[in-house]
Amino acid sequence: MLDQLLSKGLAQAGGSFWMPPQASTSAEGVDRLFYFIFWIAAFFFALIVVLMIFFAVRYRRRKASEGPGGGPTHNTALEITWTIIPLGIVFVIFFLGFRGFLDLNTPPANAYEVQVTAQRWKWLFTYPNGHVDDNLHVPVDRPVQLVMTAEDVIHSFYVPDFRIKRDIVPGRYNKTWFRAPQPGEHDIYCAEYCGTGHSDMLAKVIVHPAGDFEVWLDGVSGALDKLPPAEAGAQLFKARGCLQCHSVEGKGGIGPAMNGVFGTTVVMKDGSSVLADENYIRASILEPQSQIVAGFEPVMPTYQGRLKDKEITAIIEYLKTLSGEGGAH
Ligand code: CUA
Repeated sequence: MLDQLLSKGLAQAGGSFWMPPQASTSAEGVDRLFYFIFWIAAFFFALIVVLMIFFAVRYRRRKASEGPGGGPTHNTALEITWTIIPLGIVFVIFFLGFRGFLDLNTPPANAYEVQVTAQRWKWLFTYPNGHVDDNLHVPVDRPVQLVMTAEDVIHSFYVPDFRIKRDIVPGRYNKTWFRAPQPGEHDIYCAEYCGTGHSDMLAKVIVHPAGDFEVWLDGVSGALDKLPPAEAGAQLFKARGCLQCHSVEGKGGIGPAMNGVFGTTVVMKDGSSVLADENYIRASILEPQSQIVAGFEPVMPTYQGRLKDKEITAIIEYLKTLSGEGGAH
């Protein structure tokens, strides 16, 4: 079949005008169904346009005096034919689609599991040993299951090269899975409009060659513990998504800028003033709704259970350096 030939050629060529490279084991089936539907649609489009032009010319009004001619008003055989044939086609499309749907919804039992957290506007990937990364690293040729949830609004996890896309909804877990047979790098997009930073909500899937994934995970796990707290804090501030809303260069964002805040007096929405000390920062991270700075909206999700005490301390140490405190002495 033409569509099979095409998708086989694509797998070798690594993408085409229509489709990105096929980088997961599910991609070929998805593309095959796409081309199957595409060529059916193309065939009927061409057939209908050709017949339309032919009839328009063949039965055109030749003389000004000519009225509409009589013709058949009913043809049972014809009506049954144009009902049965499309019905058969949509049944085939349904069957192929349902098979693909089941495949995409049934991760193999031995799948490696990674937790995915989506928040405005950042992806976080948590590994079984507790390491959190802002890119998705996976072993080659092994099924990977993603258990995904959102902190704030609906997002959608989309990897075109893998042909997978799944919405992520706050307050529930949605799953998807894939197996990438070749090492490489692929783009992750958010495919559900989630606010001003939606188009920046990008990450990468890094498919590690055989054996390399374990080496990578060992290397990065606990790496922050070896850094001075303020440096670990700087990395956490970026990697955990704080920077998406809190500038450290004094520019306004969704949240207050963080440079020069530590040690100053901050005015709250209710008119009260609070000294920005360690306890204030800690409370702002764990219970962001409890103290809203004047001029800002209560949109920050809580980091309760998402940052360890040691990590919060490291972020506080980092914020001190932004006010010229800490580190210096
Ligand atoms: Cu997250 Cu769009």
